[in-house]
Amino acid sequence: MSKNFERVNMDFLAGRRLRRSRQYGWSRDMVRETIVQPSDLIWPLFIIEGENERQAVKSMPGVDRLSIDLAVQAAKEALALGIPALALFPNTPADARSEDGSESYNPDNLMCRALSTIKSAVPEIGLIADVALDPYTTHGHDGLLDGERILNDESVEILVKQSLNQVRAGADIIAPSDMMDGRIGAIREALDAEGHQNTLLLSYAAKYASAFYGPFREAVGSGSRLKGDKKTYQLEPYNREEAMREVEQDILEAADWIMVKPGMPYLDIVREIKTRFEIPVFAYQVSGEYAQIEFAAQAGAIDRQAAMVESLIAFKRAGCSGILTYFAKDMAELLNS
Ligand code: PBG
Repeated sequence: MSKNFERVNMDFLAGRRLRRSRQYGWSRDMVRETIVQPSDLIWPLFIIEGENERQAVKSMPGVDRLSIDLAVQAAKEALALGIPALALFPNTPADARSEDGSESYNPDNLMCRALSTIKSAVPEIGLIADVALDPYTTHGHDGLLDGERILNDESVEILVKQSLNQVRAGADIIAPSDMMDGRIGAIREALDAEGHQNTLLLSYAAKYASAFYGPFREAVGSGSRLKGDKKTYQLEPYNREEAMREVEQDILEAADWIMVKPGMPYLDIVREIKTRFEIPVFAYQVSGEYAQIEFAAQAGAIDRQAAMVESLIAFKRAGCSGILTYFAKDMAELLNS
């Protein structure tokens, strides 16, 4: 108890009842501090070759990889539900993957075709393009490999080429998730030099080397290929200050928005970035977080819908401007119903 409270008389203290606000549905609504709406949600889509193709991702119940034509349908659904943006991830065919990931800057790659087709069919929806080499390399790393070392500057050169192609194809937001040093500045410079001053940069500045990415790696087909781990570029879960330095660096390099990834185990990071830097912060509720809720619900341990809603509220309460989540469509449907 603070000094002030020691001095007030006990009658006054007895009158304090915090449950008074919570006694009716309407009074709880009046003091609600957080709102989740469809415009807070970013819907990730996994893209495959083919037509009218839909493949289930086993480790992510309810999530399918989609051919481009079906992704266009999904974009229309998203628009109707009030979801502002999609994040696209390609599952590159095996024969297009290589040691140097050169397919990443092929202007006719799966990702670029998906971007341009969706952009012309549904121009009102925001398109977020992931920048990293893992869906294109035979070793599943986000950068170029020299023996066991991930090369930084050489990787950045390729990431710049990849970004330019994605913007030319129709991406509105470039989202580098590779964690190489200096890529935000290099990409910004290259985009500006080509007249793309308005393209947003959403930097995965605080991306951790996490066990929660497993199902995603199955979805894009990089998991079984991955040699070793990503600890020389992604952050260790132990560190918070290091994440702040990454964020500061990317802001100095002109990042518009910051992404924290994974999401729920890292809400302290979201909160701290928000207070320190006053910049829009997003979080990625990653594949393993999604799988946790889905499989726990399947086992009858938790209520799926209630857990989904609660998890998304937690992101907004922590300070997120929005959440990249595999629940985007279900949550938007629920909010619209
Ligand atoms: C890497 C990348 C990862 C995810 C998206 N892009 C993780 C990784 O393999 O390091 C994970 C997203 C998820 O788990 O949902 N560029």
